[in-house]
Amino acid sequence: MALGLSQRAERITQAEIRVMTLECEKLGGINLAQGVCDTGVPSPVRSGAQIAIDEGINSYTRFDGLEELRRAIAVKLRDFNGICADPETEITVSSGSTGAFYCTCLALLDPGDEVILFEPYYGYHLNTIEAVGATASYVRMHPPDWRFELRDLERAITPRTKGIMINTPANPSGKVFDRREIESIGDIACRRDLFIFTDEIYEYFVYDGRRHLSPASISGLADRTITISGVSKTYSITGWRVGYSVAQPRWAEIIGHMNDLIYVCAPAPLQCGVARGMNELPRSYYDDLLVHYTDKRERLCRALTSAGLTPCVPQGAYYVLADVSRLPGANSKQKAMHLLRECGVAAVPGEAFYHAGGGENLVRLCYAKDDAELDVACRRLQRLR
Ligand SMILES: Cc1ncc(COP(=O)(O)O)c(C=O)c1O
Repeated sequence: MALGLSQRAERITQAEIRVMTLECEKLGGINLAQGVCDTGVPSPVRSGAQIAIDEGINSYTRFDGLEELRRAIAVKLRDFNGICADPETEITVSSGSTGAFYCTCLALLDPGDEVILFEPYYGYHLNTIEAVGATASYVRMHPPDWRFELRDLERAITPRTKGIMINTPANPSGKVFDRREIESIGDIACRRDLFIFTDEIYEYFVYDGRRHLSPASISGLADRTITISGVSKTYSITGWRVGYSVAQPRWAEIIGHMNDLIYVCAPAPLQCGVARGMNELPRSYYDDLLVHYTDKRERLCRALTSAGLTPCVPQGAYYVLADVSRLPGANSKQKAMHLLRECGVAAVPGEAFYHAGGGENLVRLCYAKDDAELDVACRRLQRLR
């Protein structure tokens, strides 16, 4: 047999986000393409990790995470999400929420299974599903408030469908699924006996008085819901790789085995830092975070409006989809490259979030930037006026 890549490798392409980041570096632009989140790390999180290293917490932890962290997550799930989870059997700390979702897919999906994604979708969700040999089917959400038709969801279900993926608040659209929507999805999931996979990494970034709602907190849904979340965004520690999944013990046990197989555990001292942050940060930390990000959202949306790139003001998360139909180029990649060359601002082409047609006139910009850099980017956008 000749040397060659796996069939799986051929399906996985480099994320457009990383491609634009490389283009941005070449041209010395400001990178609003990647959600790197370069705002400050809260001090209990930092010092918690530093102390753990100094005290010699350097070994493997239990495969599903340090007890201290699992307990802290259980308290947070109870108080913030309204989810009752046993830290001994239902929580698996993983290598970021990305790792948590990968382990979930390995544990619950077979090749040929289908998972429904709401479109525009987050590329890693699609790639992770495809990496385990499953496939996606799609339900289109429509701007400006990213509503979808329940009949489209019903229609997307086939005998091979195993689950529905929710991302709330969503990347890239910023959509925050409301109670009515989640209950309707839950209803369909129960009727058709499907899993609900829900990625809630942006749960603290919900604007304009909206409330984050976790599907697993809704009566009757916890048994079939795998909740994925983490603190990369909330504590600005995207490089630490600490996230988690929450599921019924019969699912969590196997998700935990997969986590052990692939990551062994999340970094031990960093788990300590996250536990300390969860235990010690006051409510005001999360309130202030929201005030700061609301301000960043306003700045970027104002700059986009005055540059003639109408923003779809996000309900949550920290990305804006902007209308670039007035920029030259046959597709969103060419328009994003025009933006990068003319303004020195990198954005992700909208087509990266759609599977077949869609997003041609959109780009996604991230405002998880420190204020000075965001201001420079906003000024540069005015070159388009
Ligand atoms: C929807 C979504 N989920 C997960 C992640 C990654 O999170 P983590 O750092 O916990 O793996 C991102 C990062 O951009 C994201 O947008």
